[in-house]
Amino acid sequence: MGTPWDRAAAGYVEQWMPRFIPYHSDLIRELTLREGNRVLVTSSGPGAEVLGVARAVGESGAVRATDKSSAMVRYCAEQVRKAGFGTAISCEEADASNTAGGPWDAILCSFGLWQYDDRDKVLCAWRGALEPTGKIGVITFGPPEEDDPYEILNHALRAVAPEIASPDTRIQSERGVMAKMFEEAGLEMVRHTVVHHTISFRTTEEFIKAIREGCTWRRVSGELTDDQFQRVVVRFYAALGGPDAPLTFNAPATVAIACHPGANVELEARPSLRPPGAPTSRPSLSSFPVPRDGKP
Ligand SMILES: C[S@@+](CC[C@H](N)C(=O)[O-])C[C@H]1O[C@@H](n2cnc3c(N)ncnc32)[C@H](O)[C@@H]1O
Repeated sequence: MGTPWDRAAAGYVEQWMPRFIPYHSDLIRELTLREGNRVLVTSSGPGAEVLGVARAVGESGAVRATDKSSAMVRYCAEQVRKAGFGTAISCEEADASNTAGGPWDAILCSFGLWQYDDRDKVLCAWRGALEPTGKIGVITFGPPEEDDPYEILNHALRAVAPEIASPDTRIQSERGVMAKMFEEAGLEMVRHTVVHHTISFRTTEEFIKAIREGCTWRRVSGELTDDQFQRVVVRFYAALGGPDAPLTFNAPATVAIACHPGANVELEARPSLRPPGAPTSRPSLSSFPVPRDGKP
């Protein structure tokens, strides 16, 4: 019967996958993978992050990429074949809770977590398949910022059709919420970093076209009448200078790393906050502005 992502796969590969690659690099860097690591990549979609993981773990490592959508798995297998890595990589159709082949040094999930209705069950399955010093790394969009076009579109949708803009589909990526989510699954969150990358579209109209290719808005626009959809879009264009205005924004995403509670896991070292020449004694926090995570 297939999943909604089977129908969205071609548009996703064309419109979104290239725009998400900088975020994949952030997640892979933060996760500090090592040569020889064995990694499960869940909800791997067309597999751009799978190639990054394979590069990081090298020929002595192993990668199992899974996704529920058979169309996505086909794209992923094709990319892996073309890349010609010596790493052992398998691409399989499977639910995110399927951890066969573990225990894993790392379990990675890029822009998949908020797709799962049963997030708790999936996280518990991941915990059960993690090596004692293994890490779970996820990246997810948000926290929302007011000038972000997704938020502007959500505002327009809430104004036109509040019954369809159900608030519980929004991604909850704030530090406290994510820490609690991991804790409830018996895990400890050891890093929470907000990163930004520039996403550009030639026009706002092209953004709307691309967003309708994605799965969430494909569903939403399918539930709206044509008239409602037009009213949402008109509000959106009015907020952003019209359908022909170019659109560039700095989209926030959150990288979160979790592990077994108290595990001594390796994480990427961050540059020191101490400016050159400053005294070696610990300065008071008020001496410098505290940087936003991920923005040194
Ligand atoms: C936004 S795409 C992300 C794809 C890829 N990870 C990336 O970063 O480009 C979300 C993916 O999650 C997959 N997905 C949704 N629910 C799933 C589930 N329960 N188990 C496995 N995959 C799922 C979809 O098929 C889709 O490929």
